[in-house]
Amino acid sequence: MIVDVALGARAYPIHIAPGLLGAAAPVLAPFARGGRLVVVTDETVAALHLETLAAGLPGIALETIVLPPGEATKDWAHLQLVVERLLALGIERSDAVVALGGGVIGDLVGFACSMLKRGCRFVQVPTTLLSQVDSSVGGKTAINVRAGKNLVGAFHQPVAVLIDPDVLATLPRRELMAGYAEVVKYGLINDADFFAWCEAHGEAVLNGDSAAQIHAIAHSCRAKAAVVAADERETDDVRALLNLGHTFGHAFEAETGFSSRLLHGEAVALGMVQAFRLSASLGLCAAADAARVARHLAGLGFTIEPAALNLDCSAARLVEHMTHDKKMSAGRLAFIMARGIGQSFVSREVELADVEAFLAVQLAG
Ligand code: NAD
Ligand code: GLY
Repeated sequence: MIVDVALGARAYPIHIAPGLLGAAAPVLAPFARGGRLVVVTDETVAALHLETLAAGLPGIALETIVLPPGEATKDWAHLQLVVERLLALGIERSDAVVALGGGVIGDLVGFACSMLKRGCRFVQVPTTLLSQVDSSVGGKTAINVRAGKNLVGAFHQPVAVLIDPDVLATLPRRELMAGYAEVVKYGLINDADFFAWCEAHGEAVLNGDSAAQIHAIAHSCRAKAAVVAADERETDDVRALLNLGHTFGHAFEAETGFSSRLLHGEAVALGMVQAFRLSASLGLCAAADAARVARHLAGLGFTIEPAALNLDCSAARLVEHMTHDKKMSAGRLAFIMARGIGQSFVSREVELADVEAFLAVQLAG
């Protein structure tokens, strides 16, 4: 299956098929120069999946750059390391570097390629559910710096995305759930039918049901491709909708130190519940819709109550974290609110005092 990201001169295909990692030659061989491809990955993914990729590329020598796994790798030091290794390997602008891994590898390699020789090509081969349904598509690349997460980066689209749902078999369930939160997000933004599909099939996606996973990935990629084609650089309040749950989530992630205590996708799930509850409390959406969102996510084992995080912090402190969000503009935050399931919208009218009062109630449990 191929989903196209329609971006004119920067358009690219997303190839989705089980077993694709071991049969990637039709997609990747055209990018090999002199019988060589450079692959950047992390140690965990290298141990589990690099051999499969290599076996499907007979006659192509893979040069590999293997980095430590984890969010800490998305930093200046590893960016420099990747750029210098790629230069030492003689990468040219027309080459395409392969990013094999989760969102950390995709974001880091994409950013390195955006600046290498003023921009070289790269292919995303995402191996987590989160990266398959979200981060590998759309060209946002970044590293984390002392001032905050993803604060230094570039828009740099890949030339192709290659998704093999079979690689999810080795992904820990917790990481699978984190990615699933981003799947549900597409339903909550503008597709009530897809949210209903999630209610019926979410457990199957998390239990490794191949057909359910393929449907979830393909549907999510189609949804994201449409958003990116409409608003590549998040200037028209279209791509901003993808931030549903992220402003609340960001506050919880910041308060837990962007650590494994709360994964990004877990924070997004918690944040989406808060966004719907706040919308309901402001009379924008039916309380029954907010309860339905919470019921689905809680039913799958997500933490949906801020009180359950046992944070030792005030609502004011959470709001303070929100104001450091890079999407803050002219002193106001753009909140993604909802008029119902599948009816999200961008609002700059939400008063931070109302958010603080709302969060105080949520934190009290
Ligand atoms: P990750 O890349 O850290 O992967 C999570 C863990 O799973 C890692 O330990 C990794 O080694 C391991 N792993 C990867 N594939 C595996 C597999 N198939 N089997 C077993 N283990 C595997 O995290 P992630 O959740 O994929 O991505 C999170 C990152 O993505 C964050 O840095 C976030 O900022 C970024 N992000 C970017 C965008 C974007 O649009 N660019 C969107 C959302 C998130
Ligand atoms: N993950 C949000 C975006 O790509 O815009």
